[in-house]
Amino acid sequence: MKIAIGGDHVGQELKPTIVEYLKKLGHEVKDFGTDSTERTDYPKYGETVAKEVASGNFDLGILICGTGVGISISANKVRGIRAVVCSEPYSAKLSKEHNNTNILAFGSRVVGPELAKMIVKEWLDAEFEGGRHARRVGMISDIEDKNDR
Ligand code: RB5
Repeated sequence: MKIAIGGDHVGQELKPTIVEYLKKLGHEVKDFGTDSTERTDYPKYGETVAKEVASGNFDLGILICGTGVGISISANKVRGIRAVVCSEPYSAKLSKEHNNTNILAFGSRVVGPELAKMIVKEWLDAEFEGGRHARRVGMISDIEDKNDR
């Protein structure tokens, strides 16, 4: 799969490990920064990766900041994005199966590298189940239409 990844300076403590892991799993990865631990602003990276995924340039996105919260909120402002912030694998898996999430976010201050890899693997391996879940995901898209986003 083609995966876009990004994060702020706090996320950068974990991002290189995740990039390496994704490559090891055989995915094509593009890192949209930041590339240092110098202070920066998470919304920039959330928006960039979200646009890459929403436009279809990439299949999925992964975002990392201190908690995963700010960067996932930012990504969710882009039409068509369903970003989930997760600190355990169960919600990551279900977020794909039921909510068809297209961006996974987590926090480098919340999860360690091994747990982060487990979360990533569960999320990537999971598949959207469709059916009744598709109707509900459609209802989420309707909210975007109704609110002109
Ligand atoms: C940066 O200090 C921190 O606020 C950011 O990484 C993230 O946790 C925001 O949600």
